[in-house]
Amino acid sequence: MRDPALTLLYSREAIAARVRALAQMLSQDFAGREPIVIGVLKGAFMFVADLVRALTIPVQIDFLQVASYGSGRISSGTVQVLTDLRCDIRGQDVILVDTVLDTGFTLRAVLEVLAKRQPRALSTCVLLDKRGRRQVAVQVDYVGFTLTDGFVVGYGLDHAEAYRHLDSIYLFSPAA
Ligand code: IMP
Ligand code: MG
Repeated sequence: MRDPALTLLYSREAIAARVRALAQMLSQDFAGREPIVIGVLKGAFMFVADLVRALTIPVQIDFLQVASYGSGRISSGTVQVLTDLRCDIRGQDVILVDTVLDTGFTLRAVLEVLAKRQPRALSTCVLLDKRGRRQVAVQVDYVGFTLTDGFVVGYGLDHAEAYRHLDSIYLFSPAA
């Protein structure tokens, strides 16, 4: 991938190793149960696909797509559900999966939406936690990588809808 805006951060091998480790933890913690894995579209499509294939427990899979009110890279406190789940999560164990956690506004708002539906338990799993960027507290139970800052693309994550298809994660800096 020769693009001057991109600097490799996590290779496909590094991602695969962390995804396997996360899947192992989830398989242990949810042994004997059949949780519903819920991916936040579009960013989580690739992560969910890899994560569930590495699990050793049965799961159900669903997705939802939300839009933050506000524009650009700045998140706001509320989300609009663009595409809702097809399944009923009441009384179920739910694992909410997203690829990146930044300010925390999106995941927190999605958690609020889901909690109202009275799942039995609600856990969260993110591949990348940009901890230094957090503006609101969010419960994160499973984390792949932690980084302080920077805008990343690839492995489902986009900049203006580009780069989602890449199998590695890159730091994006257009001036580079
Ligand atoms: P939040 O700031 O935690 O609410 O993150 C909102 C959304 O912005 C995430 O779900 C991603 O879709 C997107 N986002 C945040 N940081 C990045 C990044 O570094 N690369 C690509 N998308 C990001
Ligand atoms: Mg995006």
